[in-house]
Amino acid sequence: MENFEFYSPTCFVFGKDTENQAGKYVKRFGGSKVLIHYGGGSAERSGLLGRVRSSLDAFGIAYVELGGVKPNPRSGLVYEGIDLCRKEGVDFILAVGGGSVIDSSKAIAAGAIYDGDFWDFYQGKWIEEALPIGTILTIAAAGSEGSGDSVVTKEDGMFKRDAHGDVIRPKFSILNPALTQTLPPYQTAAGITDIMAHLYERYLTNTDEVEVTDRLIEGLLLTMIHEGPRVIEDPDNYQARANIMWAGTMAHNNSCGVGRTQDWNSHTIEHELSALYDCAHGAGLAVTMPAVFTYELSHNVMRFAQAAVRIWGCQMDFANPEVTARAGIEAFRNFLISIGMPKNFEELGAREEDIPKLVDILCNGDGRKGTISGFVTLDEEECTKIYKMMV
Ligand code: NZQ
Ligand code: ZN
Repeated sequence: MENFEFYSPTCFVFGKDTENQAGKYVKRFGGSKVLIHYGGGSAERSGLLGRVRSSLDAFGIAYVELGGVKPNPRSGLVYEGIDLCRKEGVDFILAVGGGSVIDSSKAIAAGAIYDGDFWDFYQGKWIEEALPIGTILTIAAAGSEGSGDSVVTKEDGMFKRDAHGDVIRPKFSILNPALTQTLPPYQTAAGITDIMAHLYERYLTNTDEVEVTDRLIEGLLLTMIHEGPRVIEDPDNYQARANIMWAGTMAHNNSCGVGRTQDWNSHTIEHELSALYDCAHGAGLAVTMPAVFTYELSHNVMRFAQAAVRIWGCQMDFANPEVTARAGIEAFRNFLISIGMPKNFEELGAREEDIPKLVDILCNGDGRKGTISGFVTLDEEECTKIYKMMV
């Protein structure tokens, strides 16, 4: 295991009706003028925004609102939010929605008190200061409710890039699994896929002797394999949704990733797909991961074989562990298909003829230097091969 520092200061408030306590938590964490940031309308339609406003009113907290965050959030609305926060003297941002709303909120929070262009943070500058953020999560997926990360797409060039900093970890996150019951099945499945991806990206490590985090990851993946199909079958299954929601937070607040190197090649490769085609991030990952894993397999066959045995219940073929490793990847792929995720470019809405463009933006766009790096380092030729495996 490697040395690490783990700082996860978010207060998680979990359970039924907890959104009614939004005002209490904004007050506890010092907010007096709030920006309520939300998406395309689901939170208004379900009545959630009304309950959040009432809760802020009850605690005498003033607020302004900015809706319209799109999935795969864009820089344009972030600039709008920054201007609004400055004009209105906002001192706290309340994200009501999924990863896209939360990530847009984090970008606004960092940009509102920064002299330069907020995009600097998405080109590698560490975020040192930000307005405090609270979240009310409506989809179990991205894990942004507990992470120090934000992913935004710059419209000029359609670069989808991430930014990091402990200060953008939410002060509080309200997690009511019942709020996820209104999700369309495809979004539920995309969320399940993303959560599993966050676990796999950490499982694929070059660090030895990481039994505790290996076992945590395996436990969470086994939970997802158990609960995923239950919630697809019965969208109103509160208990299954509750287990998935907490797994989603645990999968990405990095409690399972400390002390070990991680992969993230699947995410980096996928981000170009959701940037170009505006597909759901989880759906893009369903197509990306089997290809990336198959390509990376030779780097450490035994790690993939271990995943196959411990997570997917495959028999270890000691004479030829690669057979086991491949069976594990196939089992994962079949699982994703079984919950309704796409299996190839066509089903995702991606086009083979775009591969040169995808590879160019992936490896050279916005300051990159010809490669991406994770479990293995991949150059343009290798990334081209991986995209072709998805066709
Ligand atoms: O906009 P509304 O109307 O709210 O609709 C949303 C959106 O269309 C809908 N939705 C959300 N909750 C709902 C609901 N519909 C009905 N009932 C509800 N309760 O679902 C759609 C997708 O929402 P979105 O926020 O985009 O989903 P998700 O949470 O999967 O976020 C995806 C974004 O997060 C990024 C992804 O790249 C993508 O941009 N990620 C962020 C990470 C982070 N910050 O740590 C890590 C992840 O790996 C990921 O990259
Ligand atoms: Zn993800």
